[in-house]
Amino acid sequence: MTDKHVEEPHDFAELGKILVIIPTYNEAENVTRITARVRAAVPEAHILVADDNSPDGTGEIADGLAADDDHLHVMHRKGKEGLGAAYLAGFRWGLDNGYDVLVEMDADGSHQPEQLPRLLTALRGADLVLGSRWVPGGSVVNWPKHREFLSRGGSLYSRLMLGAQLRDITGGYRAFRKGTLLGLGMDEVASQGYCFQVDLAWRAVRAGFRVVEVPITFVERELGASKMSRGIVVEALMRVTAWGVQNRLGRLPAPRPADRNTPVAPDVESKAGAGGTVR
Ligand code: GDD
Ligand code: MN
Repeated sequence: MTDKHVEEPHDFAELGKILVIIPTYNEAENVTRITARVRAAVPEAHILVADDNSPDGTGEIADGLAADDDHLHVMHRKGKEGLGAAYLAGFRWGLDNGYDVLVEMDADGSHQPEQLPRLLTALRGADLVLGSRWVPGGSVVNWPKHREFLSRGGSLYSRLMLGAQLRDITGGYRAFRKGTLLGLGMDEVASQGYCFQVDLAWRAVRAGFRVVEVPITFVERELGASKMSRGIVVEALMRVTAWGVQNRLGRLPAPRPADRNTPVAPDVESKAGAGGTVR
């Protein structure tokens, strides 16, 4: 079931300034719709489209939308460098620009903006909220069996290797408090593809942050193509295996201890310049 009505009435002022980061690579058919849905679902939130110089003109379409909307920003990156790199650049831009909550969301409608209030409501009592397909109430719609198998298998393998008790550790619909990103050692993250998601969630757990899963309905895209590739799966398998082994040998450096989102000095060095230009 897709529910395009916004769930509960809400006021997220206490969370501070909210930025929804939407990474894009060839999402020309989706970018207009997804940004409009976010704007309707949580009008106070700002959006950053982090585009990797999509050949299909996604970046230019986003520029056109941003020209008419002061809540919409577009980061132009030089080329396709992977989901992880796009998010890291987006997070740095958000931190440099005074946002308190940073949300990850796919551009293709799989992460329904109408469910964002659910994530933000849970963030009131958490440091990181994961939208989860694999907790009670969560589901996937129109996903091919092999993708479901890969996702469930990836989460199970990560759980076994890393000892993290998260049901959907590979998912990409998330809300972070600023202090969580500042406390999990973002600058050491090297993951490029979708294992970036495992990397960040596990860092948050190890740093002692409160990580909460809320059920989401993940709806497979209707337009455009998935960027999932064999290379992305191989990177995830190799990295998760290496982290698990190092962890068992006690050789994994702990990330900086959690400050539990008590006021943190914004000590993140600005690398936004290296990440792309925001017009
Ligand atoms: N800027 C940028 N650069 N964006 C990218 C890149 C990249 O290299 N690769 C993918 N994206 C964007 C896509 O344009 C889309 O907005 C989002 O990242 C997700 O990509 P999809 O290709 O639609 O992912 P998926 O549906 O196959 O994968 C889903 O499952 C993964 C595993 O659970 C998503 O929920 C992922 O977030 C999740 O990690
Ligand atoms: Mn998708």
